[in-house]
Amino acid sequence: MESRKWWKEAVIYEVYPRSFQDSNGDGIGDIRGVISRLPYIKEFGANTIWLCPCYKSPWSDNGYDIADYYQVAPEFGTNEDLYELIEKARKYDIKILLDLVMNHTSDEHAWFQEALKNPDSKYRGYYFFEKGIDGQPPNNWRSYFGGSAWEPVPGEENMFYLHAFSKKMPDLNWENPAMREELYTMINWWLDKGIGGFRIDAILNIKKNMVYGTVEPDGDDGLTAIDKYIINQPGIGALLSELKSRTFANYDIMTVAEAAVPDEQVAEFIGPDGYFNMSFDFRAADIDIPETGEWFKPTDWTVNQLRDIFLTVQTQVQNAGWGAVYLENHDQNRSVNKYFSGSAVNDVTKKMLGTILLGFRGTPVIYQGEEIGMENIELDSIDQYSDIQTYHQYQAGIQAGLDSGYVYKTVTHRSRDNSRTPMQWDQGKNAGFTDGAPWFPVNDNFVDINVERERNNKDSVYAYYKSLVALRTDSRYKDVLVYGTVIPMFDKMDNIVAYRRQLDNQELQIIANFQENEARLELGAEKFKVLLSNYENVDLANTKLYLKPYQAVILANF
Ligand code: NOJ
Repeated sequence: MESRKWWKEAVIYEVYPRSFQDSNGDGIGDIRGVISRLPYIKEFGANTIWLCPCYKSPWSDNGYDIADYYQVAPEFGTNEDLYELIEKARKYDIKILLDLVMNHTSDEHAWFQEALKNPDSKYRGYYFFEKGIDGQPPNNWRSYFGGSAWEPVPGEENMFYLHAFSKKMPDLNWENPAMREELYTMINWWLDKGIGGFRIDAILNIKKNMVYGTVEPDGDDGLTAIDKYIINQPGIGALLSELKSRTFANYDIMTVAEAAVPDEQVAEFIGPDGYFNMSFDFRAADIDIPETGEWFKPTDWTVNQLRDIFLTVQTQVQNAGWGAVYLENHDQNRSVNKYFSGSAVNDVTKKMLGTILLGFRGTPVIYQGEEIGMENIELDSIDQYSDIQTYHQYQAGIQAGLDSGYVYKTVTHRSRDNSRTPMQWDQGKNAGFTDGAPWFPVNDNFVDINVERERNNKDSVYAYYKSLVALRTDSRYKDVLVYGTVIPMFDKMDNIVAYRRQLDNQELQIIANFQENEARLELGAEKFKVLLSNYENVDLANTKLYLKPYQAVILANF
């Protein structure tokens, strides 16, 4: 069996603090709100909380634009509140992962402000300040959020700074040793506070392959996607090795990189001696987005393609490393709305998705509200959305000359705000999220979908997720679920997503019928029993399994 590690056995619950629980009636979720919900997270069974950025920030990209790495955002409380959360969570055997955003800071960070004020300051070298070419940006890179990746420096002629994301998020220059030292000091400062580790943002972007002048555009805007020049560029390994040895390697922590690691580099990044313990792959969650990244041109993906992605990622990662698996996060819409539509958006499909997720090899991440089956929100106008990327995508769709109704529908369906709506706790005012006016609308469906209701119903999505999580800690099933090898099953059958997990002579079969037709499957000679299913009854006669529409099962041979 591969080496046992606590972080392989963990179940992560992602908390988006702004929308989780407000404790002081200002309409914004806060750290004290998270503290008050620790018993809920404990009861659910997660033992690690990934807290999305909670630092001081002008909130241009919802906290991923950090103005002070050392300060909790005042709207979220104080540093003391966060220390208390770390301490109280420890009492519940829950570890806190903080979000580490080091590719960029906010333009309101003191380093950048100083760099703007004083061209001779050492902080200029912390960022990418470059001369333009005859008043034009140094090159024609397109930022992730749309438009040029270069912004003119106010009050200076022919001078620009680089921002891969919004113009309020200048990129840090990792070639600068003094800047790297500052980051290491900050990381170790947080680690010394006793946190369980970090989720590490946009880390493959830190090495830039700078080019000057115009390169071949890939769009009508004359720009070219920045990805090819700033994702996983040659030389990044030296930076990541140094980062690890100066910080992470000296603590018993979990590091989860937001990094789609190529197959041939799995060992280097997330193998036993990799730069990180594990990473996220984006392919399944982003199956509906074309390569150009345009939300208003959703792909025509099929279940078979989704199945192939799931199984490819699972087997590629297991050959050499460890992954973090997820269906939802704060950058996604709700999974049930992504993978299903119309009447197929229901408790059965929600539970089916949970079965696939919690059966995977890898540390599972459950995003707040996923465990109660929260769904996308539908708002009436683009102005009601908050996410910067949603605006950019909407504008890009309109500029591309597409029908505005179509752009609105596709972009808002994909909007990151779908997962950032307030947590639905109960049927009371604002779903129990706040006594005040919520910073973002509560989904109207809170009357039906809320924690209180779900907890009181033994057949609810919540109850089912709880059972799935419990299997991971049940001494009978834990080893095979955490450490068992993944082997694809029925991968040539249409619309079936299935795999075995094997360890010694124990085997689990996780099988999902991803369609509205029934499916008949022949399991082979060995006898299996049913551990869990999203239907009350499972039609398993000897080795013949008949699955109802969207039925999922977990079978065991022991
Ligand atoms: C990934 C984060 O998850 C996302 O929310 C953010 O916009 C970008 N990185 C930039 O930090």
